[in-house]
Amino acid sequence: MPTDSRIFVTRKLPDNVEARLARDYDCNFNPEDKLYSSAELVDGAQGCDAILCCHTEQFNADVINQLPSTIKAIANFSVGVDHCDLSAAKGKGIIVTNTPDVLSDATAEIAILCMLGAARRAGEGLKMVSQNQWHDWNPTFMLGKQVTGKRFAVIGMGRVGQIAARRAKGFDMQVHYHNRRRLDADAENGAIYHDSVESLLAVADVLSLHCPATPESSGLLNAEKIALLPEGAIVVNTARGAVVDDDALISALKSEKVYAAGLDVFNGEPSHIHPEYRDLSNVFLLPHLGSATIETRDAMGYRALDNLDAIFSGGEPQDRVA
Ligand code: DGY
Repeated sequence: MPTDSRIFVTRKLPDNVEARLARDYDCNFNPEDKLYSSAELVDGAQGCDAILCCHTEQFNADVINQLPSTIKAIANFSVGVDHCDLSAAKGKGIIVTNTPDVLSDATAEIAILCMLGAARRAGEGLKMVSQNQWHDWNPTFMLGKQVTGKRFAVIGMGRVGQIAARRAKGFDMQVHYHNRRRLDADAENGAIYHDSVESLLAVADVLSLHCPATPESSGLLNAEKIALLPEGAIVVNTARGAVVDDDALISALKSEKVYAAGLDVFNGEPSHIHPEYRDLSNVFLLPHLGSATIETRDAMGYRALDNLDAIFSGGEPQDRVA
């Protein structure tokens, strides 16, 4: 549906997505994939009707308030919208959309990878082989923890949490969860509901975080909550770094209260993550790869474009969050 609307595309997107964008819209692309500052975001939006951006751009109230009045929509190439001040957007009459569903399988895969990587000491093992430090094999060499049959505890049983839970069942794990509201029996799929985070933590052999970053979930996994975990629990985070209090988790990893952590997201990512994570051997760390598959990144782009198409043809976008 070609229109004469102009879209400010803040990052380099997959070729297929940019081809559809170029076919249907006038676009200000970012071929060098420069990470724009706030001033550059405001500048780049001049003369545009909408912005297609990623979680890497901070659309805080200050930036949103400086956007030109021609901007009708911010279409996010992400499910998470914590980088976007939704009430500022609402106040300025800007529609905000996200890309749910299409990245749930990919992100759940990474959650399972993080769980196994942490439980089976894959971070240490990879380093040992690649740095030519592997000189022995013996019956007590690099023993990890088996997850089969253990309890998999999910905080945030949304789309990703539900799929991660189904995958964990493939390892005969017993699924427990806490969510703002209890799911219906179908969605619950045999998982055991806990009406408080505290009650869930007590049974979390593996704790997998899947809740969005909001003011309420900020620092949710703090020292007090970690103390409620079983000795030697495993922590997995594929949601947002903000959900974890890094000092508390690092201290629990040092004392082995937490046996290991598999983390795909961090406070201060990419270049200012807590430096002590790098010194720990009981972590399995990935650079925010949750949705990073060819299929998923194309699907995220198409979903963001479906939302823009709906807006510019006068309809309601399916993924409106503000
Ligand atoms: C998301 O969609 O929120 C992922 O974290 C990638 O931005």
